Amino acid sequence: MNLISLLLGIGVLLVIALAWFAVYYWLNPHVASPDGKARVVGICGDVMEISLKFKDDRVSEGSSWTNGCAHSFNCVCAAVDMAKGKSAEEILDIDGTLIQNAVGGLPRDHWHCAGLAAETLHAAVDNYMQTNLGLARQGKK
Ligand code: FES
Repeated sequence: MNLISLLLGIGVLLVIALAWFAVYYWLNPHVASPDGKARVVGICGDVMEISLKFKDDRVSEGSSWTNGCAHSFNCVCAAVDMAKGKSAEEILDIDGTLIQNAVGGLPRDHWHCAGLAAETLHAAVDNYMQTNLGLARQGKK
């Protein structure tokens, strides 16, 4: 009887974990062959990644990932949402304060989460601009 309960418990946990992953990836689809991509490690040791796809010089798709806390997750998702439809220059105006406002504020000890999201977003734009400039100089764009 105890073995059956244990197996049932493990099965329920497995189903919950799989459902969480399915919802996470469904809500946060991966951008195939991004035009700009960045991975930044924050002062707290958390990592954020942002991938951006541009169409007509504006962000058409974006995806994000972090191994950080819920605040980090909210901030990096908000950063990508705020970037959608914007040009590279407009995205550089998105800072930690705007991201904090977008997520409804953060506790003082998590302000850096918004800063890291802004830094990662800017690094992805930087990567896009450098790649784009390089292609333009080579006459491929
Ligand atoms: Fe590290 Fe939020 S706690 S980025």
